[in-house]
Amino acid sequence: MAEEKVMLRGLEDVIAGDSQICYIDGKRGRLVYRGYDIGELVFKTHYEEIVYLLWFGSLPNRVQLSEWEKKLSTARDLPAPVLDAILRFPKEGPPMAALRSAVSLLGLYDPDAENNSLEANLRKGIRLVSQFPAIIACLIRAREGKPFLTPRKDLSHSANFLYMLSGQLPDETSIKALESYLILLADHEFNASTFTARTTAATLSDLHSAIVAAIGALKGDLHGSANQRAMETFLEIGSVEKAEGYIKEKLAQKKKIMGFGHRVYKTEDARAPYLRQMAIKMSEMKREDKWVTIAEKVKEVAHREKGLYVNVDFYSAPLLYYLGLPVAFFTPLFAMSRISGWIAHVLEQYANNRLIRPLSNYTGPMDLAYIPIDQRK
Ligand SMILES: CC(C)(COP(=O)(O)OP(=O)(O)OC[C@H]1O[C@@H](n2cnc3c(N)ncnc32)[C@H](O)[C@@H]1OP(=O)(O)O)[C@@H](O)C(=O)NCCC(=O)NCCS
Repeated sequence: MAEEKVMLRGLEDVIAGDSQICYIDGKRGRLVYRGYDIGELVFKTHYEEIVYLLWFGSLPNRVQLSEWEKKLSTARDLPAPVLDAILRFPKEGPPMAALRSAVSLLGLYDPDAENNSLEANLRKGIRLVSQFPAIIACLIRAREGKPFLTPRKDLSHSANFLYMLSGQLPDETSIKALESYLILLADHEFNASTFTARTTAATLSDLHSAIVAAIGALKGDLHGSANQRAMETFLEIGSVEKAEGYIKEKLAQKKKIMGFGHRVYKTEDARAPYLRQMAIKMSEMKREDKWVTIAEKVKEVAHREKGLYVNVDFYSAPLLYYLGLPVAFFTPLFAMSRISGWIAHVLEQYANNRLIRPLSNYTGPMDLAYIPIDQRK
């Protein structure tokens, strides 16, 4: 029993390590990547630049960016056995379970799988970031019974993903909306899935194993699945007139409203205003303001009634819905962004590693005597 040690439930407020990647000011609602406020980056950069920033600590210059984009865009193809496996996956299975399985398979076929050098991890990291959109697009198309599309190397990361979903060249508003979503969710310091990735890496396991573990952690309703659950809430509400009654009833039943609350933010999530802005832009383009209108009402009621603040998943929900993504695939989209942060953290963990191994506060019985099996009740 760890009697003299402090136990903090859910590791709340525990600082579990140094990091130079990301800073959150939960009181002021501020998010910083490598020294840059998220508001400084979201509409000025591309996701490819953010991946570079998170991994290498500075924004790339023109030459570095063009080499970087080439490396990423030429690493998009999936190995044939992975494509075959996706076709055989059950069509009704949870998309995050399918993503987790596909990424595990990628590890099995990766030529650098067991090589833990920095060079090999960068090669694997580039492949993983670039293969994620292809996996998700193929999973969606397989469910819809549509043939897979070959990735386009001439398109940006975001544009290629939208192309791989529909076979059409996407419009600029949709590209920008997806791009800002991917940038805003790319990292969030020691959140549950990132910490899971770091814990796995800290045993000196391989990069793919760390990412598979992180996907498992992101899958839960209290973490990444909240974007899907928030959209399901908006769909269930169905019209703005019903929003107030619906939320009041849920709160009276002591149910959690998905897309609200956060362990670190004690005010509105730093990412929410930008996601809101892009969701409104998409609603204007689609000439359908129903989902942002319901969202605004839900936000107002939940704040008025229980002082709740929205988190990242709240406006992500209408944004992804307007982009035409199936609701069941919202959490894989979160993973498609966060993969860059997970890898940045795994690289940082490997660079200065120490096994992550906390203690438990044992509360079970002690000093029991062994009972032979025939004498047990
Ligand atoms: C994110 C979350 C897991 C943080 O959890 P936490 O730090 O352990 O905080 P708790 O769950 O203990 O919540 C603290 C209090 O706020 C309330 N609360 C927190 N989030 C709430 C929500 N979404 N709806 C209603 N009440 C909420 C809790 O009921 C609790 O109230 P109480 O003290 O009266 O019991 C939690 O806010 C949550 O479950 N949110 C919904 C899921 C979600 O959107 N997750 C995505 C996070 S980015």
